[in-house]
Amino acid sequence: MCLFWAALRHLHSGEVVSDRAACRSAFLFSSSAAVATTASPYRVPETVNGERARRYCLPMAAGFRLRVNGVERRIAAPAARSLLSVLRDELDLTGSKYGCGQAACGACTVLLDREAVRSCITKLGTVGERKVTTIEGLETAGALHPLQQAFLDHGAMQCGYCTSGMIMAGVGLLAENPDPSEAEVREGLEGNVCRCGTYPRIIAAVRQAAAALRGQTR
Ligand code: FES
Ligand code: FES
Repeated sequence: MCLFWAALRHLHSGEVVSDRAACRSAFLFSSSAAVATTASPYRVPETVNGERARRYCLPMAAGFRLRVNGVERRIAAPAARSLLSVLRDELDLTGSKYGCGQAACGACTVLLDREAVRSCITKLGTVGERKVTTIEGLETAGALHPLQQAFLDHGAMQCGYCTSGMIMAGVGLLAENPDPSEAEVREGLEGNVCRCGTYPRIIAAVRQAAAALRGQTR
């Protein structure tokens, strides 16, 4: 992607401009087109480097408290920043993946309380008191979640890029429906894309985990 468009997209969405080159590109564009004014919230300084450029390129950061995988975390970031970006870039929880960035692939799926959401379009400022669970927080006392184990048992991944999102979506589905039919699993995971085409194994894994979880609660 052209650096200018990368910078413009970040500025528009309130995402962190983590790429210094993208910030520089915005500066170069605004200078040459003479569109930067002193009134702009994104005014770029004459000298662009390091933190100084970062400060000028970002919308105002605010303080947020997030409960992530059972641990309270404090985040200073703009409210409009995506939850996915905070998880990956601030908290080093890189299990959630960036695929499409527009809620169309499911690679970034995490749980807010028991609901599966697309973290790429979930704004930090909207999370509130809800508990965030990522793939890193699914195991308990060193034991894999039954759905993680079922994915291993069925070899339900090839490249693995979709896997954490699939598992989190599956956990969300099983929280709503503890005994889904094959058709219900298909429907429940419809928005999660696996480019390697491991769908039959994923469905088998979800149904195995459903049986295991029902056994645990008897
Ligand atoms: S990256 Fe969030 S749905 Fe694709
Ligand atoms: S295992 Fe490769 S995208 Fe699903």
